[in-house]
Amino acid sequence: MSLPVVKRDERGISTLYVHDKPFFMRSGEIHNSSASDAEFLEKNLWPALRGLNMNSVIAPLYWELIEPEEGKYDFTLLEKMIASARREGLKLCFLWFGLWKNAESFYVPAWMKKDTGKYFRTEKVSGEKMNTISPLCKAAVEKDRQAFTAVMRRIREIDSEENTVIVIQVENEIGLLGTDRDYSETANAAFAESVPEALAAALGKTGTWEELYGEDAGEAFMAWYFASAVETIAASGKAEYDLPCYANAWLRQSPWFPGSYPSGGPVERVQHIWRAAAPSLFAFGPDIYVPYCADVMDSFATEENPLFIPEIRKDAVASSYALYAFGQKNAICFSPFGIEDLALDPDQLDKPPMDLMIALNIDPSAFDITGSKECLAATYDLLKQLEPLMLRYRGTKSQQACVRHGECDYSAFLRFTECDLAVSYGPRMSGKPLGACLAFELTPEKFLLIGLNCTPAFHNKPGVNKKLDMLRMEDGRVVNGEWVSGRVLNGDEKMNLRFGDMPGALMVDLYQY
Ligand code: DGJ
Repeated sequence: MSLPVVKRDERGISTLYVHDKPFFMRSGEIHNSSASDAEFLEKNLWPALRGLNMNSVIAPLYWELIEPEEGKYDFTLLEKMIASARREGLKLCFLWFGLWKNAESFYVPAWMKKDTGKYFRTEKVSGEKMNTISPLCKAAVEKDRQAFTAVMRRIREIDSEENTVIVIQVENEIGLLGTDRDYSETANAAFAESVPEALAAALGKTGTWEELYGEDAGEAFMAWYFASAVETIAASGKAEYDLPCYANAWLRQSPWFPGSYPSGGPVERVQHIWRAAAPSLFAFGPDIYVPYCADVMDSFATEENPLFIPEIRKDAVASSYALYAFGQKNAICFSPFGIEDLALDPDQLDKPPMDLMIALNIDPSAFDITGSKECLAATYDLLKQLEPLMLRYRGTKSQQACVRHGECDYSAFLRFTECDLAVSYGPRMSGKPLGACLAFELTPEKFLLIGLNCTPAFHNKPGVNKKLDMLRMEDGRVVNGEWVSGRVLNGDEKMNLRFGDMPGALMVDLYQY
């Protein structure tokens, strides 16, 4: 059996295969510290995840706990995590919290943190040192490479048959906050040079960073050096055990200048640089806490970058975005952050303080879990049951999904073979999912509709001088790709074709007269 791999399917859609079968990660990322204590895992974490219909979980591995003493590795937590994930029937994506986490170097071992001479920090233009080890510090990158490689070796030793671990994120939300680039002496010298040959070849031109990137040169320069460091680390780990690896991005967002978001992270405008420097990565994943999640999905899901969402807001709108991610954007992974919170009573949830939200540029409503759990559990179950249909129809016009993109987005118009579908979104309300619809055209006259908070209506194509009506409409459910019918809705209910706050499914037969 092959190892987990991301490759294109017969229609050209980048797909994660686990044990040679497509695997859609219905996931959740746990809080940063939840995997640092085995007892906490057993008592608090796993029970909270049961019943959410996830098939995978995203969890950190902490360099400082794995290599507390230089050169001596302790894999106890890693082994426990794999064993207990297996017991829970969940696959794992590990986050390597190595040199960089949220634009700083929080998780490096103490022996490295304290040796500021050997493992030098990035500097602002003023000379102020930051809590971020420079990606130009070869000694630090080499230590991270060794540790990550040891981690991958251990995973291979204990998991290469079962493949509980299916994907690895290398580092976390890389970049520099508070400056566009590193102004240390080493960085200044490198910045004055021409861009590296591999980048010049990818661009088809050469010159200094400033000549090629103008005012954005600092961000481009950091992107290259962060990506090169990640490549050194990831390629060495993959040589030991070849799991799919990706990097995640803190989004470029208001107020938009490099340093207000981590400068050098794999945001859209520098992904060409990351791609040239870090060919070992299969994707750059967005961490989405802004109110305009669907726009972010649209811009990250490209021909070259499959959509892998390691973190997304966990309020009730998450379910609507999950339908859109898998239904329209061929996502490999969808994963609300702090997933274990969903088990809590919304009123008891200890939300992060406002200052922290502001520092992390997070929309505070993203962490309001009112109405999230039941809706996400039902949506994840439905998505699981839809997999055979998605495998048959995705990438064709017979599968289309839409979601409310913003305040002024009231509806979507989906064009099918012999008729079209207008989907009007219900109002946006806190604690409720956003309007979203996933439609399968099973034949030109037969549609399976999945929806949340929206009203779908079929329309004839322009110029057709006939009336279009529903011959039969049923509610029901999908079980492993097969329709199991419920009520026949041909009376009053037919007048009110509407999806509410929990995901629903309708089978509609159409005819013309
Ligand atoms: C994004 C980071 O990647 C996560 O580790 C976490 O810090 C969240 N932000 C906020 O809680």
